[in-house]
Amino acid sequence: RTTLRWLWRFTYLGVIGFLGYTGYTIYLLRTPSEQEEVDASKKTLVILGTGWGAVSLLKKLDTENYNVIVISPRNFFLFTPLLPSCTTGTIEHRSIMEPIRNILRHKKAQVKYYEAEATKIDHQKKVVYINDDSEIKGDTSSTEVPYDMLVVGVGAENATFGIPGVREHSCFLKEVADAQRIRKRIMDCVETASFKDQSPEERKRLLHMVVVGGGPTGVEFAGELQDFFEQDLKKWVPEIVDNFHVTLIEALPNVLPMFSKQLIDYTENAFKEESITIKTKTMVKNVTDKTIEAEFTRPDGTKEKEVIPYGLLVWATGNTLRPVVKDLMSQIPAQKDSRRGLAVNEYLVVNGTENIWAVGDCAIANYAPTAQVASQEGAFLARLFNSLAKTETINAELAKLSAEQAKATSDERTRILNNIKALQRQLRRVKQIGPFEYSHQGSLAYIGHDKAVADITWLSGNIASGGTITYWFWKSAYVNMCFSTRNRALVLLDWVKSYIFGRDVSRE
Ligand code: FAD
Ligand code: NAI
Repeated sequence: RTTLRWLWRFTYLGVIGFLGYTGYTIYLLRTPSEQEEVDASKKTLVILGTGWGAVSLLKKLDTENYNVIVISPRNFFLFTPLLPSCTTGTIEHRSIMEPIRNILRHKKAQVKYYEAEATKIDHQKKVVYINDDSEIKGDTSSTEVPYDMLVVGVGAENATFGIPGVREHSCFLKEVADAQRIRKRIMDCVETASFKDQSPEERKRLLHMVVVGGGPTGVEFAGELQDFFEQDLKKWVPEIVDNFHVTLIEALPNVLPMFSKQLIDYTENAFKEESITIKTKTMVKNVTDKTIEAEFTRPDGTKEKEVIPYGLLVWATGNTLRPVVKDLMSQIPAQKDSRRGLAVNEYLVVNGTENIWAVGDCAIANYAPTAQVASQEGAFLARLFNSLAKTETINAELAKLSAEQAKATSDERTRILNNIKALQRQLRRVKQIGPFEYSHQGSLAYIGHDKAVADITWLSGNIASGGTITYWFWKSAYVNMCFSTRNRALVLLDWVKSYIFGRDVSRE
């Protein structure tokens, strides 16, 4: 009995201790210590963007070393890997957004943030021109920001290859607003198809959901949409059961070209089982408000034209350059041969400049445009900039000590000499930053019906796996990678909520 009583006391104290610790951690998260004020005498480091590259840089940057300014039209970080789940309401979009103000207020020294788009970078004058493109504008909505160092992390735009009708009639899937638009349109198509006296052909068209682009964005969205239909729409709106259909169109001979052959076959078979139609070797050439005109290449090489009616069209054919990047490239002769983005050297310095760095989808460093690459590049730049700042401080101290040494007595001279040696050792350590090296952790994609595919790099080999266990791995990997504890908690709650109550089918 005495042992039990002690056990109970220890458990009780343990729970109190745990709750106290958790509460204190949350308090610290909500109330970070006072920040150092901006020191205008320090070098001005301007960071364009609040995406994977820029935020990963900000997270690790010692902001007290610079006068840091962040400029982006989006005042939050977006965890893009879970964006396809927001199109059907499996996850609510706010669960994968982290306000940039929250990220910045935890830095040691203050960071300025301007909600604006960079419209032009003048690399000769070292100035960025910015424009407030939001709904509410003050008397000043365009201005310029001078910089000493500039990091371009503006990401990329959706590629349309100039195909007529794409911008007017299709939805993209890159930003929160895109996911919201898709979610609204899915339900609009469903409700319109169920409208009284709707003709059978029109119902069929409205319920034909077409995805163009068989890269991971297109595949993940198609999987999520079919899940929505199977798990919720079928029960809520049974009259659409016979006509709801998802088609994925891809110009190449197979989907997911960056995955291993085994996983490509696995995905294509899984889609067949899920009743998602894949049309490969089919290139979309024109889009109207109700149809897609595509060209299918037969095995003998001849072409066949196809007209495909659709209700919802999601366009996911990869990336193209943003205008501000295109304009910067046109100013720099060393960039004239670069087509897909800013060519950078092994330290991510934009070729042809000395004080501009580029990270993520807008930079071409021979890696795929992924979040993994962007975040590693951002973290690399943080280390580089921290090291540059430390080098400058140590050099200044060394210069001061050398001057003192010249005037010092012989006793003092030994002490100063020891200090100089210690600083020189520190300097050698700080300067040991090699070029950027990308470490590929693998590729993961959700393919619907509680299945995922993964090409994981492990012990310098590759493991390819697909199925339900991989799906649980996908879930735990992504929930772990979410930006904050708050994001993790919200995503977990959303999953539980949609599992228990089903997805919300209201059209807001
Ligand atoms: P982004 O994250 O796109 O950020 C660009 C930032 O620049 C944004 O804040 C934007 O508002 C800002 N900006 C834009 N224009 C301007 C301007 N003119 N001036 C100033 N700021 C500007 N990759 C993976 O590795 N794994 C995944 O699972 C994965 N899933 C994805 C799912 C989807 C649906 C999508 C669309 C992409 C996915 N990716 C994934 C790719 C990944 O999201 C991108 O590679 C990554 O976002 C690139 O990071 P970035 O910092 O270059 O650009
Ligand atoms: P993508 O570039 O990977 O794929 C686009 C596909 O569209 C290509 O296969 C292309 O052949 C096809 N296409 C182009 N024009 C076409 C046309 N007219 N008709 C039919 N098909 C056409 O683009 P995506 O999926 O948007 O991905 C962009 C980047 O983001 C990639 O680097 C990708 O790896 C990354 N990403 C990674 C994810 C993951 O790891 N799970 C998820 C989403 C994106």
